[in-house]
Amino acid sequence: MLSQILEGVLSYLPGVDHSMKGTGGTISSRYCYSVWLRHLVMARKNGLSTIPHVVAELGPGDSIGIGLAALISGCDKYYALDVVEHANSDYNATIFEELLELFRDRADIPGEGEFPRVKPYLDSYDFPHDLLNEKHLDYSLRPERIAKIRKAIGNTESDNSFIQYKVPWDGDTVIERETIDLVYSQAVLEHVDALWNAYDCMYTWVKPGGMISHQIDLKSHATAETWDGHWGYPAVVWKIIRGRRPFLINREPFSTHRAFLSQAGFEVLCERTYEQRSTLQKDRLPEKFMKMTAEDLRTAGVFVQARKPL
Ligand SMILES: C[S@@+](CC[C@H](N)C(=O)[O-])C[C@H]1O[C@@H](n2cnc3c(N)ncnc32)[C@H](O)[C@@H]1O
Repeated sequence: MLSQILEGVLSYLPGVDHSMKGTGGTISSRYCYSVWLRHLVMARKNGLSTIPHVVAELGPGDSIGIGLAALISGCDKYYALDVVEHANSDYNATIFEELLELFRDRADIPGEGEFPRVKPYLDSYDFPHDLLNEKHLDYSLRPERIAKIRKAIGNTESDNSFIQYKVPWDGDTVIERETIDLVYSQAVLEHVDALWNAYDCMYTWVKPGGMISHQIDLKSHATAETWDGHWGYPAVVWKIIRGRRPFLINREPFSTHRAFLSQAGFEVLCERTYEQRSTLQKDRLPEKFMKMTAEDLRTAGVFVQARKPL
């Protein structure tokens, strides 16, 4: 606990970089390709019939590569919303060319062997030919279309670009209401401070019949010695650990996400939880977490897809 407190305290010191730049995952094109196709394959399984036209991503991190994979596969417009400007156009350009090769090769989805910690797991990691058939790929990989996406990578801030990178994003007006077919995120919703606002905004943005798809990692993210130790800290200790960093983790358990989904109006299509044995004693938890259910205490992660009713 001492080292975690120290990190928080250090973030208050002048001259110490507390920007939290650099997230890891999306620096790899194979990771971006894998994550996009996992969300897409799962969405297909849960009722998506065509490639979504307009997608939005919360927290793309080091590159907008997951969104670039979405565009290459046939989406027409992509919004990326973050709170720290991790991504830059050089990274994005390199990742784009690598992604293109993966789609041209119809490469299988990098699976558990290559990315053992990335979820959701799929039943099959074969290239999804049923969803991305040759006719569709002939259209989406047309040189003129690819050239347009390549050009847009350097122009993500202009209002008429079909890649919109908004950092920081603030409230539901950042995207026009009911214009999005799919909002997704990978390892992000556990970091969002204003979590209810995020669910509410997503409901506003998504078209009736549109979907959201999120992989949420509910573990302690190195803020504690154990996977679930973050729930054991009293509020005052947590405040110090959080420090002045632009984001850390919001410590919300699975049941909060489930409640917000339903409160916003979403219809849950798929809820896949990943469990670990709890190391906590419920009667010794701080007041804020005393109401956690037995399911919350063992849920280390969840993949959820939900729909806005028609
Ligand atoms: C663990 S990183 C994941 C990055 C990327 N999705 C990936 O799979 O590698 C968490 C990301 O969430 C972003 N984030 C934190 N709070 C956020 C918020 N309120 N809205 C959008 N993104 C947020 C961070 O800036 C960071 O990019």
